Amino acid sequence: MPSSIYWEHKHNKLNVTAPAYSTQSDDLNVLTFTMKSIQALCQNDLASVNQYISEQLTSDIGLVEDITDYIISAGGKRLRPILVLLVANAFNISSKQHIKLAAIIECLHTATLLHDDVVDASTQRRGKPTANTHWGNAPSVLVGDFIYSRSFQMLIALDNKQVISITANATSEISEGEVQQLMNAGNVNTTEADYFSTITRKTATLFAAASQSAAVLASQGDTMQQAMYDYGINLGIAFQLIDDALDYLGNAEEMGKNIGDDLAEGKMTLPLIYAFNNADSADAEVIKTCIERKDSSAINDIIDVVTRSNGIDYTISSANEYADKARHNIAPLPDSDYKKALLRLTEIAVERRS
Ligand code: IPE
Ligand code: IPE
Ligand code: MG
Ligand code: MG
Repeated sequence: MPSSIYWEHKHNKLNVTAPAYSTQSDDLNVLTFTMKSIQALCQNDLASVNQYISEQLTSDIGLVEDITDYIISAGGKRLRPILVLLVANAFNISSKQHIKLAAIIECLHTATLLHDDVVDASTQRRGKPTANTHWGNAPSVLVGDFIYSRSFQMLIALDNKQVISITANATSEISEGEVQQLMNAGNVNTTEADYFSTITRKTATLFAAASQSAAVLASQGDTMQQAMYDYGINLGIAFQLIDDALDYLGNAEEMGKNIGDDLAEGKMTLPLIYAFNNADSADAEVIKTCIERKDSSAINDIIDVVTRSNGIDYTISSANEYADKARHNIAPLPDSDYKKALLRLTEIAVERRS
């Protein structure tokens, strides 16, 4: 059965949540997990993660604390720390180091969001005005730097050389992905290969760093570490593909951020790349004009072109392919509720509306 966004789109009912179901996991009996129940499974660990984050992100500079509290307390799904906790517990970790790792990964993610919202000139994040809207670009960039640096201080305290190396590599790749995307902004001839290279770097590497590092802390060998790295990459790609579909078809209230931001930045994401390559010449011209002018005033026309050209369907089916790969990567894990939750996350990444 197609995913919920597809179904809702076909029925022009974008506010209705239809249950999505992937036939590949029929035999896995994982459907009982929702994002809430996965959070509940990690409840105690997550409370410790949140506590550790607030202990670590203190500063005697008032503005640093104000901005940090503002974005951290706005919540977010806490998906990446949950990934750390699930993988560590799936391997029956004997220490509590995964709590610190989960906090560090969430802090790194938060720092990238502060920077990303400046670069993308975004005005809404986690249901609130972005920090750049509230305080301006300079404080957002500088506090993003503070959270980055504090994350590395926390990593030094964690004292695992391999985890430091994985995380340092991931952060430089994220920056490269963001710069690569910036270089392609306004370029209607951006290819699928460019796009996948960008989203792997800017999004999937942090998912992979989270799951691989959790395997390292749980004393897993190279094969299992590689499987967890691959799982993170494939899950992260599926997650970003859906983020890019939601930028056209999502609901701003549910997502807590605006739709149309990608078009306004001249970003050729997969829905648009596919539409541009498959549309008739009049539709292709509409896309070219909006992308080159970085103009989202014709967002409704673009949504129409993207959906008529099957750009959304194509993006969702690509996300399903990556989610499938992630399911295969997780197969060697020992059976547990944590493994079931990791499997279910591959479906939630595709079904999600926020
Ligand atoms: C937003 O990530 C950035 C992307 C990679 C699309 P999330 O959607 O996980 O953001 P929060 O943490 O839940 O706000
Ligand atoms: C998110 O990319 C990637 C990073 C934050 C590094 P997007 O720009 O697509 O994410 P949103 O839509 O702003 O959350
Ligand atoms: Mg953005
Ligand atoms: Mg986006």
